[in-house]
Amino acid sequence: MLNITILGTGSVGSTLGRRWAQRGHRITFGSRNPNAPKVRDLLSQCDGNASAATNDEAITADTRVVVIATPWPVTLDLVRVLADQLAGKVVVDCTNPLRNDLDGLSIGHDTSAAEQIAAAAPGAKVVKAFNSTGANNMENPKFGEQNDDAFICGDDTHAKNIVTDLAQQLGFDVIDSGALRVARYLEPLAMLWIHLAMHQRLGRDIAIKLLRREKPSQLTPAHSRV
Ligand SMILES: NC(=O)c1ccc[n+]([C@@H]2O[C@H](COP(=O)([O-])OP(=O)(O)OC[C@H]3O[C@@H](n4cnc5c(N)ncnc54)[C@H](OP(=O)(O)O)[C@@H]3O)[C@@H](O)[C@H]2O)c1
Repeated sequence: MLNITILGTGSVGSTLGRRWAQRGHRITFGSRNPNAPKVRDLLSQCDGNASAATNDEAITADTRVVVIATPWPVTLDLVRVLADQLAGKVVVDCTNPLRNDLDGLSIGHDTSAAEQIAAAAPGAKVVKAFNSTGANNMENPKFGEQNDDAFICGDDTHAKNIVTDLAQQLGFDVIDSGALRVARYLEPLAMLWIHLAMHQRLGRDIAIKLLRREKPSQLTPAHSRV
């Protein structure tokens, strides 16, 4: 059982928090208005394992994992305010730095939302995760016999192991994609999902899956270096 703080009670934050609470984790939702009816309703679905607080009160000494599930335009300001509290925590960045028209990313190529969050919160163990699929797939990652892939990246192996475990508990297959700077690739991957779902009208019941001919344990070192 982990103490997990989730910043943001929208589609992503509420889905991840509710599902982890239902698996026995202790969730604290950080919200601008922890007494709002939508937050009360969310808590009522969390099997008694969740509470809500303001964002600056939601992270405590017991908190192991902090999930950032806020709109990108407000995220860095929020992270800067909470930077001292985030030090030493596993910080799961779900954000995508979307432009307002949802037709592209506002940053990229030589940086990423995840790297900017890490720079704004020194000492936080930032892991990019859950950004490249829809909140509906966080509710149900099953596609027949297959599972949606959670592509993750980060610089701290232990933090990635914790996030891997949490993602697998929700039913995801996890693809460790490498260091945190790989978020520069995972954030555009989300843009592809959004484009296919919305602009190509494939709808939200889609997921991007990595196919492999060999299991990871069968990869030779030469393969691993590619
Ligand atoms: N929706 C998806 O399918 C999806 C999938 C992957 C990644 N993402 C990314 O994940 C993040 C969250 O997405 P979402 O769809 O969950 O967004 P959302 O439904 O708009 O919810 C975001 C939540 O952030 C909080 N928030 C909003 N404005 C804020 C502010 N000014 N200051 C502090 N908190 C604020 C709100 O919670 P309170 O009202 O409780 O404060 C709000 O419910 C975004 O960066 C998005 O790009 C979304």
